[in-house]
Amino acid sequence: MTEGDTQHTQQQRSNGARDGAVVWLTGLSGAGKSTLARALEAHLRSAGQRVEVLDGDEVRLHLSKGLGFSREDRDTNVLRIAYVANLLARNGVVAITAAISPYRETRAKCRALCGARFIEVHVSAPLETCEARDVKGLYKRARAGEIAQFTGVSDPYEQPERPELVIPTHELTVDAGVALLVEQLRARGLSG
Ligand code: ADX
Repeated sequence: MTEGDTQHTQQQRSNGARDGAVVWLTGLSGAGKSTLARALEAHLRSAGQRVEVLDGDEVRLHLSKGLGFSREDRDTNVLRIAYVANLLARNGVVAITAAISPYRETRAKCRALCGARFIEVHVSAPLETCEARDVKGLYKRARAGEIAQFTGVSDPYEQPERPELVIPTHELTVDAGVALLVEQLRARGLSG
């Protein structure tokens, strides 16, 4: 039983739901988390696996609407994502999350909540690469002082110490990244 499981849940699960997984993608803005999440989603769905993506940018428009980027707000956002991901995963869904989730301690809480379902994946493109890509133009604005507390520039990103997987997106194609993720899921009987 994990922190996220009640006794009621255990009873429900003993009635048949098979565990999915929480694929927790963490990394800098622009590292490729959303791209990998969507590519993995498409792959798993076409293989018949139930799958859902929780993307920080989207969650912030709805479930986390109104939250900013202080440590407290990020923690609230990230723990909400973990909570929903765990609900899905304990009912057989592969829940893929794409949120910077910059703080080690908060990710440890997410792991405690999700237990063995949690697969921490460091999407590890270095800051120079993310900044050179600057897909949304946010690094430029952060360097110009127009955005405060920007991860990697004026707010920390604490790298995972023992993630289940590292995906160096500056060295791999999207397909190669997806293949690494599928391998992890296959080991759990969840490749679709
Ligand atoms: S988290 O820190 O709470 O996990 P989340 O992944 O939801 O962050 O949101 C990150 C996205 O918000 C970035 O990809 C970027 O588009 C946008 N953003 C806006 N302000 C910031 C900021 N100060 N730091 C990081 N990302 C920001």
